[in-house]
Amino acid sequence: MYFVANWKMFGSIKSVNSLKKVISYSKIKKRKLNIIYCPPYTLIKSFLDKTKNSNIKIGAQDCHSHSKYGPFTGAVSSKMIKDLGCEFVIIGHSETRTINNNKKINLKIQAALSEKLNVIFCIGEKLIEKKNNKTKSVLKKQLLEGLKNINNLNNIIIAYEPVWSIGSGIIPTQNDLTKNIKFIKDTLKISKNNTKSKILYGGSVNPKNIKNLMRINNINGFLIGGASTNEKIFIDIMKKSIN
Ligand code: 13P
Repeated sequence: MYFVANWKMFGSIKSVNSLKKVISYSKIKKRKLNIIYCPPYTLIKSFLDKTKNSNIKIGAQDCHSHSKYGPFTGAVSSKMIKDLGCEFVIIGHSETRTINNNKKINLKIQAALSEKLNVIFCIGEKLIEKKNNKTKSVLKKQLLEGLKNINNLNNIIIAYEPVWSIGSGIIPTQNDLTKNIKFIKDTLKISKNNTKSKILYGGSVNPKNIKNLMRINNINGFLIGGASTNEKIFIDIMKKSIN
């Protein structure tokens, strides 16, 4: 199971101290858990140093569509992220989709893959799309356009994050989530002949709902925002996923 901590725009230099218990925990349970921290760019180096002798991997939260260097003020490329020592990058998170369309996201994924980064590719419908029964068509469009010209999905993990569930405390019903995960799997099978892709769920994952979420078929892990910034709660989620 994957447990990806997306810290978004949270954390100070001192936050690195809050990894201690998770590092110890990751050592005990290393067979079952893939723990990945995606802190803001400013903290990546200290997170990498702190987790050096552990099983924890580090990722960035986004990258530019140009993979190398260039005159793009404020941007960070996949080459720079790789150079730091990251192994992962999140691309297509709904909080970045306001300034990124599917085409741009596709270019970013290609840029990340060209630098041999593993991509956590986020997709998910908005509340209005869900209400209008557009979930499947939205997911399909995001998948097909985001993965255009990419046939090898070995280094891509899909993260299904319904936008309305992020930070709201509300998660999809078991039935809806099962259906949507299956739909994502089927779409990848039909369009890319791929049956192996890992699929994560993201959106208000917490210690109370993790056991129910673990019952959903074909979920390979979780992309966790708020609850991942508190190490006690993050460990609690991981513990409850096992017991
Ligand atoms: P929350 O877990 O805070 O709902 O955030 C989910 C998310 O956006 C992870 O990428």
